[in-house]
Amino acid sequence: MSLLLDGIGLLVTNDTGLGEAALGVLRDAALVCEGGRVAWVGSAATAPAADRRIDAGGRCVIPGFVDSHTHLVFAGDRAEEFAARMAGRPYSAGGIANTVAATRAASDVELAGHAAKLATEALQAGTTTIEVKSGYGLTVADEERSLRVAATLTGETTFLGAHVVPPEYAGRPDDYVTLVAGEMLDACAPHAKWADVFCDRGAFDADQARTVLQAARAHGLGLRVHANQLAPGPGVRLAVDLGAASADHCTHLSDDDVQALVGSATVVTLLPGAEFSTGSAYPDARRLLDAGITVALASDCNPGSSYTTNLPFCIAVAVREMGLTPEEALWSATAGGARALRRDDIGRLSQGARADAVILDAPTYVHLAYRPGVPLVHIVLRGAETVIING
Ligand code: NIG
Ligand code: FE
Repeated sequence: MSLLLDGIGLLVTNDTGLGEAALGVLRDAALVCEGGRVAWVGSAATAPAADRRIDAGGRCVIPGFVDSHTHLVFAGDRAEEFAARMAGRPYSAGGIANTVAATRAASDVELAGHAAKLATEALQAGTTTIEVKSGYGLTVADEERSLRVAATLTGETTFLGAHVVPPEYAGRPDDYVTLVAGEMLDACAPHAKWADVFCDRGAFDADQARTVLQAARAHGLGLRVHANQLAPGPGVRLAVDLGAASADHCTHLSDDDVQALVGSATVVTLLPGAEFSTGSAYPDARRLLDAGITVALASDCNPGSSYTTNLPFCIAVAVREMGLTPEEALWSATAGGARALRRDDIGRLSQGARADAVILDAPTYVHLAYRPGVPLVHIVLRGAETVIING
């Protein structure tokens, strides 16, 4: 069954061979999808016929968002911690233990139900691909079940057993690292595509992070690193050294970190929701972009530092607070996310890509930042199927 999407006032393809500037923009455009993929892109005037038709009514159409960093599998919330922070208390990695306790106490059904609710929330806001991490179980059984839940939502699953040292291992971090890199990884690797480590103040040091990441690589997992969020440190350079797909957060970067990233295989994933919700200063995204480093934008959805699934919100914050242009922010939340997941079948709307698209109730993607907090997602197509119609 083929689909013609026409009446597109402004189409973002993210394919510079197809249209204007970095976003590959086409005006008065149409798309034809076949078998869940984009089969044809061009001027509406010359579009071929198809079995089914959607008229975008002059609206802007963009690739579905690719959220390459979330922690959707958890129980409970930390609203009180957030309120205390807004009253002046600093954020620290220590709060993670509260979510770990709630997650361990939750039933499988509760965990799966809550994660699915958040994934639906993300889809309603235009996210058509989502990465989901474990990291709030921190026992062999709880990490494994977290990944089983994640795998019901996405193929982009990430083992984050090295999130923090859990309370029962207090004072024995190396014993916990041995568990994570051994028995826990053996149990979790079959359900994971990626492994991640929180390499930062209050979490894991470079040697511990390297041990876990190397073991994960030996199990065939791709690598990602939570790096330089809370303080300057070795996370970014470790990520580059190990050829990780992404170094995430990067709030505190030294010149050496930036130099290491230039020309590397590692994307920087910025998480504006985290600085917004922790009250931290924002990273200097201009410095990264001006150095030619690939930047992705993701939500970091988690109950501690960034409890949002909404990429339009993250785009608005990135534009207002991090110095990205609206074009750069949209590219980073679509094509950038795809690069961070090492995918070339998503994050673009050109021939052969998955037909994952968002019809915005707006004439241009600039409205994503210009109209912050306003739900602009009109229709979401995933694999050419209409999955969400808002209004
Ligand atoms: O990405 N930085 C580490 N992990 C999460 C926060 C986890 C939490 O506070 O629960 C993050 O921000
Ligand atoms: Fe995170």
